[in-house]
Amino acid sequence: MPSPFLTPGAVSQADGLALLHLRRDDTVPTILRAQDDENLGYKEGKVTNTRFGSYPHSTLIGKPWGSQIAASKVDTGSRGRKGKAPAKRKAEDLEASGTTTGADEADNSSPKQPIAAGSGFLHLIYPTPESWTLSLPHRTQVVYTPDYSYILHRLRARAGGTVIEAGAGSGSFTHAAVRAVFNGYPDETSATKRRRLGKVCSFEFHEQRSERMKEEITQHGLEGLVQVTHRDVYEDGFLLGDPKTGQSPKANAIFLDLPAPWLALKHLVRKPASGVESPLDPSSTVYLCTFSPCLEQAARTIKLMRQLGWLNISMVEVNHNLINVKRDRIGLDAEGVRGATVHPGTVDEAINKLVTDSNRARELRDSQNDATDGVSIESTAGKAKAREPIAPQSIAPAYDLGRLVHRTEPEIKQHTSYLVFALLPRDWSEEDEQRCREKWPSDKLDETFEKAGPKSRKQMKREFQAQRVREKQDEREKQEKEPETQEVMEKSEA
Ligand SMILES: C[S@@+](CC[C@H](N)C(=O)[O-])C[C@H]1O[C@@H](n2cnc3c(N)ncnc32)[C@H](O)[C@@H]1O
Repeated sequence: MPSPFLTPGAVSQADGLALLHLRRDDTVPTILRAQDDENLGYKEGKVTNTRFGSYPHSTLIGKPWGSQIAASKVDTGSRGRKGKAPAKRKAEDLEASGTTTGADEADNSSPKQPIAAGSGFLHLIYPTPESWTLSLPHRTQVVYTPDYSYILHRLRARAGGTVIEAGAGSGSFTHAAVRAVFNGYPDETSATKRRRLGKVCSFEFHEQRSERMKEEITQHGLEGLVQVTHRDVYEDGFLLGDPKTGQSPKANAIFLDLPAPWLALKHLVRKPASGVESPLDPSSTVYLCTFSPCLEQAARTIKLMRQLGWLNISMVEVNHNLINVKRDRIGLDAEGVRGATVHPGTVDEAINKLVTDSNRARELRDSQNDATDGVSIESTAGKAKAREPIAPQSIAPAYDLGRLVHRTEPEIKQHTSYLVFALLPRDWSEEDEQRCREKWPSDKLDETFEKAGPKSRKQMKREFQAQRVREKQDEREKQEKEPETQEVMEKSEA
């Protein structure tokens, strides 16, 4: 099944993950199934209950993503009488056996048509790593979008790459990483030398968490793209399968979200001391990021990185702030505008209001006096209206009115940590050097430059200086050789 995270298609699919968006910061993830597999007793089949009503999945399957779905009235059927009713068989069992009992047929194979409720709705949206991060069931602290977007950018994670991740935790980073390296599904596209399929090799020490991760990866259609291994990476490293004889993932990007990342670094080398194969890609530079909540941990990691030959080591703290920019409208003309303060905005406006109010009061008094004198109230009310000052009409568009203000949002979901980045260049042997010399011989470099087009002044100056240096060196060598030549000539003459 294609993953809704990578290729969601136009409509929601049965057995696929969907997000039920109730309101901002309130999204419920669910696997869409028409049948009530958990046997909760709803006659409409599987139902998701929310604070904004109940939604039978038959109203959610096959709908265009983004649709607004109305809540339904659900028939709880045997709910609460589960003990008394004959136990229902699960939909898979029914499909496998191909037989149904009369009661089962009524309850399971043909769910009741839902009836729309009077109120309540949600929006059906396909999952993205960002929305999954905000709605996933938390088993651990997770890496949030502001951090992982920056991490993946610095790790150069791109289509066809291979990422090692430890620990997997709740799988927040995993989903973002697999989207970054996705380059086709394994069953559709066979990898070629030119086109590598992207992969995430995820390691988790906690057994239940790793099992739950494997289930989620299958449910999300990411099998073959994410490989979850139950492993203590401090002890057993990062090979796939057997820790000693297993296959190398040939990773070019590594993300360590571990309590002691320095303990795992000994396995992330070109030639491990234990003699096992390296988990790193031998043909490319490897980029590494560690995620540590305190500076002492970051310092300890950096110390070991230096000893192991990691280069370009840098530390970053992502401080992500959402700035809420809006127009602050104060004024009597802002009546009815959402969020506006309806008070005089200027002294003129305040005076104008006082004058208008006192005029109105006077007119009311006059009209009451006139009424007692026998003059009709309608005519005096008309007079009052005619005298009312006309509010100055602004010619500026509504979005341009008011004072521009900004505030930072105080609560941002983010687990602040220190990110340590480093890179390990590819191994460079004598053979590699020789191959490159043959491919790009230094005496042909001038020709290559000429072909490359007009030279800049800086380039010409550099070449001129290099030429001078070469000439001086030739002269020096000549002078050194001259006495020797003279000696040889003298000897030959003698
Ligand atoms: C903070 S969580 C990772 C969260 C994850 N990055 C995410 O975005 O959801 C750290 C995880 O590392 C795992 N862990 C700790 N020590 C480990 C080890 N030696 N080998 C593998 N995993 C380990 C823990 O079980 C925990 O699940």
